[in-house]
Amino acid sequence: MTEKIPEFVVINKPTFNESDEFKELKQKIKFQKQQTSKFSKKILLGDIVTTTDNKPDTDKYVIELFGVRKWYQTGDILTPVLRGVDLKIEKGKFIVILGPSGSGKTTLLNTISGLDKSSEGDIFVLGNNLSLLKDSHLTKFRRENVGFIFQQYNLLSNLTAKENAEVGENLSKRKENKMSLVDIFKTIGMEDQMNKYPHQMSGGQQQRVSIARALAKSPEILFGDEPTGALDEEMGRRVLEILVDIKNKYKTTIIIVTHNPNISEIGDTVIHVKNGLIDDIRNNANPKKPSDIDWS
Ligand SMILES: Nc1ncnc2c1ncn2[C@@H]1O[C@H](COP(=O)(O)OP(=O)(O)O)[C@@H](O)[C@H]1O
Ligand SMILES: [Mg+2]
Repeated sequence: MTEKIPEFVVINKPTFNESDEFKELKQKIKFQKQQTSKFSKKILLGDIVTTTDNKPDTDKYVIELFGVRKWYQTGDILTPVLRGVDLKIEKGKFIVILGPSGSGKTTLLNTISGLDKSSEGDIFVLGNNLSLLKDSHLTKFRRENVGFIFQQYNLLSNLTAKENAEVGENLSKRKENKMSLVDIFKTIGMEDQMNKYPHQMSGGQQQRVSIARALAKSPEILFGDEPTGALDEEMGRRVLEILVDIKNKYKTTIIIVTHNPNISEIGDTVIHVKNGLIDDIRNNANPKKPSDIDWS
């Protein structure tokens, strides 16, 4: 069988020089939308498409952002939330995105993970430029490639722990090289509780099952937005320990958002977000264990 050689397409951006800033931003958003309908399918089929002249290095990085901006539009008002983000994330690392409330952490995570669209720039995730994927293709990409954990666990209440995890498993495209459900439940320390329903579990246990659900599709990348935000100290540490175990055991890239500087000490890399920009990126030579960080 011959595999198609991916094409590399450079989109030439027009110069936007509207006198009115609002008009210019609208032009940029319109341009991004036009290119999306033109290139979304090609990207999903494996072609590399850039609006910023950049070619992603997929051997080294799972994620690369170039000049990413996002504005929220409410009526006639455009609010800038991401104001030009460049970022490279290496495979198999534990990344913590840290910043004060309202700084744009959730928006950044959502655009990287394909839950939300950017307005300008390139977001390469596993080589796919998510900035130019239309909604249905973005959903397909997410379903097949990435896992999510949210602050609220979002389990289905009429399904057992095991059945909730199977929902994730059925979405996977990688049928080979899969993490087995039994192995996953061992990793989260709940192999004896697979038949419990959500109402029979503590918040911490429900969050662990939501991790199992995310892992069941063997994602390359696991995203969490304040995954310990609703948990007490003991359960919070346990969840963080499990995330570190997952990184070590399955080589999954883990990216979590927090406003708690203590939690950032467990990351291999800490990305500081401030006012819609990356303020600082630090590598921890010796990340702390979740059991060794301060809590509160
Ligand atoms: N859907 C939206 N519409 C308009 N503004 C939004 C929307 N979502 C977030 N924002 C604004 O974007 C900024 C960043 O929000 P967010 O990414 O949630 O920050 P964080 O997660 O760091 O608290 C905030 O000022 C927020 O009010
Ligand atoms: Mg947030």
